Amino acid sequence: MYVCLCHGISDKKIKKLVIEEGVQDMRTIRKCTSLGSQCGKCVKQAKEIVYESQQQLFKQAC
Ligand code: FES
Repeated sequence: MYVCLCHGISDKKIKKLVIEEGVQDMRTIRKCTSLGSQCGKCVKQAKEIVYESQQQLFKQAC
């Protein structure tokens, strides 16, 4: 599913950045992808996906 329509960034891309690439925060995701740099409507949903991905990582570690 696309999260950021302006830049064509999907939830899979965000999850991959957090889970596989070790990105820890929205600032880095925004720098890497330009997410939120146009209309900004995607930022809230992207934050939720980052949080969920971090929770998933935490569960895998325990
Ligand atoms: S939907 Fe992401 S900047 Fe517009």
